[in-house]
Amino acid sequence: KSMGGLNDSVVSEFVLLGLSTSWGTKVFLMLTFSLFYVGIILGNLFIVFLVIADSHLHSPMYFLLANLSLIDVSFSTVTVPKMISDLLSEYKVISFQSCMTQTCFIHVMGAAELVLLIAMAFDRYIAICKPLHYLNIMSPKRCVSFVVIGWVTGVVHAMSQFAFVINLPFCGPNTIDSFYCDFPRIIKLACTDGAKFEFVVAANSGFMTAGTFFLLIISYVFILATVWKRSAGDLSKALVTLSAHITVVVLFFTPCVFLYVWPFPTSSIDKYLFIVDFAITPALNPIIYTLRNKDIKIAVQRLSKRRFSKNF
Ligand SMILES: *[C@@H]1O[C@H](CO)[C@@H](O)[C@H](O)[C@H]1NC(C)=O
Repeated sequence: KSMGGLNDSVVSEFVLLGLSTSWGTKVFLMLTFSLFYVGIILGNLFIVFLVIADSHLHSPMYFLLANLSLIDVSFSTVTVPKMISDLLSEYKVISFQSCMTQTCFIHVMGAAELVLLIAMAFDRYIAICKPLHYLNIMSPKRCVSFVVIGWVTGVVHAMSQFAFVINLPFCGPNTIDSFYCDFPRIIKLACTDGAKFEFVVAANSGFMTAGTFFLLIISYVFILATVWKRSAGDLSKALVTLSAHITVVVLFFTPCVFLYVWPFPTSSIDKYLFIVDFAITPALNPIIYTLRNKDIKIAVQRLSKRRFSKNF
């Protein structure tokens, strides 16, 4: 504890309580998360590789998908490996700098992911509802600008919260009841009244996540309504595809709502909820976007044929 010093930040590291359970559960979680993490890396990098290698996949949708995969890989790399290695260690510390860095990266990548999800929903909306204008609206220039806007939004979103939090005095408690660092949890440890800073985070992150969720649901409703007007047969097919997307979107946004928007303390639940965002939705994205997808299947076949003819 600081003794009468003027706003000195003496906390140099934080202690993460992590996912404390029995030893057996820890081993089980470690193996499961390791498997998920390998799946995230292989699945997403495979998409990136396929989209770059196959010229037939050089379309707006796959350009955005490959970039989403890159973000998913980075997003889970910031948290999952540390979570796995912490599972089996007794004393889980993270330095002040690492904690802030992790938090900022989570928000840069998280916000970039939100913008890309909106861009991809917009892409599908144009493809289905305005097919004649598709190539005009989703021009290469616009696709690149979607990605750039995503990263710029991420940096602005993260830095605008970081600027508040870095100036808070940290002098006392340094225990975080979670497996990673994030703004709401860091603010709780500041030795000052954090209420107005909590409001800044809730307003910023909460507005982003709630707004994105709302936009995505609206675009899905528009797509379904358009398909429904055309034919009832297509509707059931569209419902199958879209329900997978909606499931992932609901999975991704539920933890965010609990951490940033929900006004009541829920830390004991939401620390487990966020496993979904870091380890499960990044693994699901490559599956739902490629499974039962003809373009991808054909691209894989073309790729294996090319290998085959090269070897013989
Ligand atoms: C992602 O976006 C960037 C910038 O727009 C682009 O240069 C890059 O090729 C994209 N990545 C993939 C794998 O498509």
